[in-house]
Order: sequence, then structure tokens, then C-alpha cells
Amino acid sequence: MSSGRNIVLTGFMGTGKTSVSRELSRITGMRVIDMDAEIEKQEGMKISEIFSSFGEPRFREIETEIAKKTASKHDVIISAGGGAVLREENVKALSGTGDIVCLWAEPEEILKRTGRSDDRPLLQVEDPLKKIKELLDFRRPFYEKAGLRIDTDGLSPREVAEEILRRLGWKK
Ligand code: S3P
Repeated sequence: MSSGRNIVLTGFMGTGKTSVSRELSRITGMRVIDMDAEIEKQEGMKISEIFSSFGEPRFREIETEIAKKTASKHDVIISAGGGAVLREENVKALSGTGDIVCLWAEPEEILKRTGRSDDRPLLQVEDPLKKIKELLDFRRPFYEKAGLRIDTDGLSPREVAEEILRRLGWKK
């Protein structure tokens, strides 16, 4: 199953981009490229180390480089970091070769899914639920503008993947 175009998954941290991209890959046979993993490979550092050593602005620069490189591929599933759509140039590059799909979940569900893991530097705060709500409020228009929105609450990764393929017209 392929059209030459990429499927680009975005959405807030904890909305299931990683697990849904694996399901999409299983169904379509397309390879997954995880932008955060590419950033870590290129820089030889964990995302959390990039944030703590160089700060978020530097991370966003690197993310844009990787978004452009990744957008030059074809027939791949791209799992983009949750902040990748905040920059217009990233959206432009990624939507040039792919269909952007935005996974959505409610803040309480996001908190449950992100748990206490320490690999999300933006959520290492005293009140992560408050932070999630603030970031979601700010980002909502970016996610809505970026592409197709899929609500994931109550759905399994497999169901989300199938819904994406139906909505993109790849599957009945
Ligand atoms: C970020 C999301 C993270 C990672 C970085 C910043 C964000 O990716 O890119 O910590 O700004 O939402 P995931 O959404 O895959 O966790």
C-alpha cells in the first residue's frame, strides 16, 4: 500500500505518535522515521541533554534541519516531535511531501500516558497537568491548522491507525 506520499504524525507528547506509527507501518509496510530519534542520532545526545545543555531554541533549530531532511524522503511514516508544527517552515517542508495528521488527546489522558518519564524536558515541572493545559491551549491552533485531526481518547493504536488510513482515503 503506497502512494509515494509520506504520512506525517504530529500531536502533543503522549498522544501516541510512536505506537500509532508502528501500527501504520505494520499495515502499510512503510518504514517509520522518528524525528526525535534522528535528532539524537545526528547530535549524539539525548533530547533531554540537548535541552539542558543548549536550551529549547537550539533544539528547535536542529528540529527544523531534521524536518527538512526527513521531508525529502518518500513513502515513509514520519513521527514528528510534538513541537514540530510550531514553525511554519517545518509544516511547509513536511506537508510538501506528506499528509500531516494530528493526534489529539485530553490533558488528563496525556498526563496518564506521559507518566513520570524523565525524557520529556518540557514536562519536568512541579505541576505537569497545568503545564500540559497551558501548552495545549497555546498549540491548539497550530495543530488544527497543520492537518487532519484524529481524537485518540478510548481508541487503541491499531484503531487510530485504521482511522487515519480511512480518513486519508487509503482504505475503505
Ligand atoms: C516536544 C516533544 C517531544 C520532543 C521534545 C519537545 C514538544 O517529542 O520533540 O521533548 O515540544 O512537544 P514527543 O512528542 O515525541 O514526546
